[in-house]
Amino acid sequence: MIYDFEHGLDRHNTGCLKWDERCVIFGSDDVLPMWVADMDFPIPKPVTEALVRRAQHECYGYSCASQSVLDAITERLWRKYHWKVDPSWLLFTPGVVPALHAIIRAWTSPGDEIIVQSPVYYPFWTAVRENGCQIANNQLIWDGHRYTMDLDGLRRVFQPQPHGMAQSPSRVKMAILCSPHNPVGRVWTPEELRAVGEIVTEHGGIVVSDEIHCELMLDGVHHTPFACISPEFEQRCIVCMAPSKTFNLAGLATSFAIVPNPELRDMVQRRITGAVGSVTPFGYTALEAAFREGDDWLTQVLHYIEENIAYVNRFLADRLPQIKAMPIEGTYLMWLDFRMLGMSVQELSEFLKKKAKVGLDDGYVFGPGGEGFERMNIACPRATIQEGLMRIATAVQSL
Ligand SMILES: Cc1ncc(COP(=O)(O)O)c(C=O)c1O
Repeated sequence: MIYDFEHGLDRHNTGCLKWDERCVIFGSDDVLPMWVADMDFPIPKPVTEALVRRAQHECYGYSCASQSVLDAITERLWRKYHWKVDPSWLLFTPGVVPALHAIIRAWTSPGDEIIVQSPVYYPFWTAVRENGCQIANNQLIWDGHRYTMDLDGLRRVFQPQPHGMAQSPSRVKMAILCSPHNPVGRVWTPEELRAVGEIVTEHGGIVVSDEIHCELMLDGVHHTPFACISPEFEQRCIVCMAPSKTFNLAGLATSFAIVPNPELRDMVQRRITGAVGSVTPFGYTALEAAFREGDDWLTQVLHYIEENIAYVNRFLADRLPQIKAMPIEGTYLMWLDFRMLGMSVQELSEFLKKKAKVGLDDGYVFGPGGEGFERMNIACPRATIQEGLMRIATAVQSL
């Protein structure tokens, strides 16, 4: 079937975080929300139909992943990446963020350090700190064309640290990769993944690869799961995936961590049990329907998103040359450079909220390197994008 993304959905008064919490988040109800990462589009029809069928079975007791759900996942991973995943490697959680918390508790002790690469999805910072660990930030590099990982910086992070007159060994235990990288939109190449993996594993660390955006590939770019780089990496990593970003199911809180190493899996499973809730019957139903029957919708939505990106780029070039969009290979989150406006991070935030009346994610929240940038969610009808950009252009002209 042909989906209509042009008109989107009216999400007002549906308990929708993006639209109904505007007053709480941006201080006013007339802000156009283009922030949190979900789509203002209807989901694939087969998913709605499967959910309705499931709802009609009027018992919503505790659930587990059926063989058919497990097959839907492993078949998809094989089809997309030629990754042979044993169903026993899958651990289900009601979200990738809860999984990250459980993984950190499982693998680290208080005071240990965890690598993140800013600017990066800000709940990584909270997950590290709330579980008693410290951030070892290895800021991404802008090489004039694209963001890259600072491999020398990564090596330095593992060096012994001066401690008074002595040196104490590094306490870095893991790196959390954002792959594809939110908010800068990079899809890491196999060579880049291999380089980072070699540094981390050489020093005894593990890689936790958050691949929640892995199916949002633009313009023919291909995603490589971290574990597919080598059998050695497969044993020293955890890959987190979900149908939530790809198929707009985030509210159904369903995700899975793939943990090939049995000891690691056991440690994480123990942290999940009891402390992290389980997936609901609707979550499993939606996951299976999306993975089995959602591809036609996905092809169409990605095409629409690519056209949205082209629209934003054209608009900025023609009407708002002060703002630059960074190149985007994956995700539906555009990373916009507002530094030419010469504002402090607070001034920029206030300007967008109060003057332009557009609700974006302030770049500084993503950590060092994010200052002066804003993240714009473009998984919405083009009319919303046009309205958002017009509001910004009018506000900029009045400066
Ligand atoms: C990189 C990344 N990880 C995790 C999440 C959220 O995951 P969940 O809702 O499954 O906890 C997001 C949401 O935007 C994200 O961008």
